[in-house]
Amino acid sequence: MSKFFVTTPIYYVNDAPHIGHAYTTILADVLSRYHRTVGDEVFFLTGLDEHGQKVKQAAEKRGLSPQAHCDDLAPRFLNLWKTLDIRYDDFIRTTQERHKKIVQLCLQQVHDNGDIYSDEYEGWYSVAEERFITDTEYESGQFRDVKKLKEKNYFFKMSKYQQRLIDYIQAHPGFIRPEHRKNEMLGFLRQPLGDLCISRPKARMDWGIEIPFDKDYVTYVWFDALVNYISVPGYGSDEVKFKKWWPADVHLIGKDILTTHSIYWTTMLFSLGLPLPETIFAHGWWLIGETKMSKSLGNVVNPLDLTNTYGVDAVRYYLMREMVLGLDANFTPDSFIKCFNSDLANDFGNLLNRVSGLIQKNHGGQIPQPGDLTAVEQDIKQQADSLSGRIKDLINEFKVQEAVSSTLDFVRILNKYMETQAPWKLAKTDMKAANRVLYTAAEGLRIATIMLAPVMPEKTAAVLSILGAENTRPSWGQLRPGTALQAHPPLFPRIEVEKP
Ligand code: MSP
Repeated sequence: MSKFFVTTPIYYVNDAPHIGHAYTTILADVLSRYHRTVGDEVFFLTGLDEHGQKVKQAAEKRGLSPQAHCDDLAPRFLNLWKTLDIRYDDFIRTTQERHKKIVQLCLQQVHDNGDIYSDEYEGWYSVAEERFITDTEYESGQFRDVKKLKEKNYFFKMSKYQQRLIDYIQAHPGFIRPEHRKNEMLGFLRQPLGDLCISRPKARMDWGIEIPFDKDYVTYVWFDALVNYISVPGYGSDEVKFKKWWPADVHLIGKDILTTHSIYWTTMLFSLGLPLPETIFAHGWWLIGETKMSKSLGNVVNPLDLTNTYGVDAVRYYLMREMVLGLDANFTPDSFIKCFNSDLANDFGNLLNRVSGLIQKNHGGQIPQPGDLTAVEQDIKQQADSLSGRIKDLINEFKVQEAVSSTLDFVRILNKYMETQAPWKLAKTDMKAANRVLYTAAEGLRIATIMLAPVMPEKTAAVLSILGAENTRPSWGQLRPGTALQAHPPLFPRIEVEKP
């Protein structure tokens, strides 16, 4: 048994959550549930990033104080996670006292280590990005809302750790994943690394955590937010807890926040004298039919609309099945319906319907006796037995999409087995053989269902209860002959698309 500490980014509370937020959180939930099923002790952390200019501006637009705005929007995230069956272990809001005091502790420690200095700085400041940008960035013309700014600020000596970070990344191949993101970061680190401005004068921006050594300043929102990964598991407050959980096993993030995580955060940890997380995994973006999702384009997908129409488990399944971790994926209603109808309705749902329908019709509604297995069933048993090991390996490699598709491949094998064996015909001539086939198909279905449970907690719980197999393990032979099957409606009724 080992521990598994997984985090999501903490989301800005500037708007309602969208499919991108839902994706990372479901992914963390799925990984957590897989790890729990193999007996690991899991700590799954998510939450909200409530400080900084973006949140302040969003609050101003609504005529609310920043805190009132956050208090108003936080339930939208909490309710969505409830609807999506997210089982997190802690939920941090960066305006909570328990977090603020640890951010101040970290600032003080980094300062005491001689890694913070003050300087008068004049440069281009991007309001949208909330940071000073370099001259090259300015000249690229890619930044909106840019103004020249001159002010005294505090800087973190990030540059001091540049070589150490390069060496670390090279010595730990699994640290930044996937591989192409690691190379991107190493490429970035070929340029001299500047120091990081970690303060904002209150006179200009006061919505943040006060810097302990200068009350005229608050800290930069990223210095604040990243610390959540250690403030929650007990840094500076609960040594035993912290020792148990840190370093995190994986920070799941989107590719757009890779620099802040693999460069800002890691150098902050170096300065604090703490070990780095095992893995930073940057996933791709959900595109909406090939275009970026954006409010101004009006194509933002609201996860609640989808769950209301198709059900929570189908949405979780689709998101896990469609995105190859690390690459961008395309969301379209068409691809959703295709995935639903083929994998869930035709393959998984249909296997249950056939097995339970035939058991009701020809076998008195009870799981039949397997009898002696022939070579065909031995082969299925062997595939079932190797499935859980394979999935464990895939999950350890963050290959969730492959874990799901391997399980569905096995479901297809079972459907094919049913077709070639035709137990409805056997029931007329050789009842023993019909029993054997239906036991085998039902037992295979049970194991596939357990493998899919982290992705579809509700529907799989329903299937296991239909089979009378709650709390069973994914090893062959746990389905008990004689168990009465429960009647049930179709698991995933096909979505009929009206022809134009
Ligand atoms: N508050 C920071 C994170 C601080 S973590 C210490 C932040 N918040 S965010 O709300 O803007 O974004 C959170 C996450 O959502 C990022 O990982 C980002 O990549 C992800 N996504 C935003 N749009 C997305 C898609 N269209 N698709 C997938 N993920 C996307 O950044």
